Amino acid sequence: MSASLVAAAARQRATRGTARVACAADRPHAPAERRAIRRALRAWFTRHARDLPWRRTHDPYRVWLSEVMLQQTQVRTVVPYYERFLAAFPSVEVLAEAPEERVLKLWEGLGYYSRARNLRRAAKQLVERHAGRFPTTADAWKALPGVGRYTAAAIASIVSGERTAVLDGNVKRVLSRLCLVWARIDEKTTLDRLWELADELVDPEQPGDFNQAMMELGARVCTPRRPDCDACPLARWCRARAAGEAERLPVRSARRVVPAVELLTAAVRCRGRWLLARRPATGLLAGLWGWPSVEGGDLDGAGAMEVSLRERFGVRTRLGAMLGTIEHVFTHRRWVLRVYEGRTDGARRKPPSDADWRWVTSNEMQALPLARVDQKVWELVRERLGD
Ligand code: ADE
Repeated sequence: MSASLVAAAARQRATRGTARVACAADRPHAPAERRAIRRALRAWFTRHARDLPWRRTHDPYRVWLSEVMLQQTQVRTVVPYYERFLAAFPSVEVLAEAPEERVLKLWEGLGYYSRARNLRRAAKQLVERHAGRFPTTADAWKALPGVGRYTAAAIASIVSGERTAVLDGNVKRVLSRLCLVWARIDEKTTLDRLWELADELVDPEQPGDFNQAMMELGARVCTPRRPDCDACPLARWCRARAAGEAERLPVRSARRVVPAVELLTAAVRCRGRWLLARRPATGLLAGLWGWPSVEGGDLDGAGAMEVSLRERFGVRTRLGAMLGTIEHVFTHRRWVLRVYEGRTDGARRKPPSDADWRWVTSNEMQALPLARVDQKVWELVRERLGD
């Protein structure tokens, strides 16, 4: 190699790491390639699509429900929830009439409970303002609570055949590999670019199937780690694969550390009933029931808890034995709950009928919507104290 070539190679090596991250090296595929990609994806989806309940219908209510449940949640978790939900609320009219607590109960364990509350609010809007008629365009879907750009595009493409692309986590990964996008995937300019690439690629004839196929490919073949490129119908056109870089894409900003919140939680039993409280209507786990908790570590928490139990629920309690510690990780924070037994003097105040707290038997507790973290507390309490 000549001296100038050696120097050029060294320069290239030196700049490579940063250049990769900084530049979006993507170019859209040529029109003929895009047509070939759509054909290959369609053929793959025809052979490999999972038979899922919402794929057997174009009914907007069912597709909408499935897309809301599938936000942030994996297909195999969603299927039983979807079926139970539809059995309980078979139409938008029934959902609009349902008490929020019942809707939350059917969502119990699925997480991101604002999805359930928004779904019910949107059902009410559709029934009260639109005589139960569903939107027919992505823009109109977006006007409903809980329906963002991605969900609106998924529903409108599947139900009405609108030519509009989806971009969820799976599709972002597929596209960033297919088009060799080195820019950080969580930055606004990269996202805008990915939406453009998705919109250019979406199949104008079968956008619903195309979108579902892209999501399916990301979930099953073009996986975050160890993508199965040999089984990929798009391998021929994949620039990351050609460069031997598929596994290094997409590029993400470093994850922020999730802050921990210390809580002190009381399991208070009085004459065979447990004290539970409903969480406020806004904020994390809004509207769900749970064990009385206060923020704070052991010592300051204990005093605050005894005061709160007396003032809010009218019960005199001494905190007794520590039953154990429960940890629960949400997207943006981690809760560490120290669970104490609460001993009362045996006197129980009856809550007013509209109170956001109740004394419940173990059986009654099962009818209330409880977040996963409160179920973990319940398991601990049962193990230590019995039902
Ligand atoms: N993720 C979200 N919606 C989906 C769908 N319709 N098919 C597969 N995965 C999905």
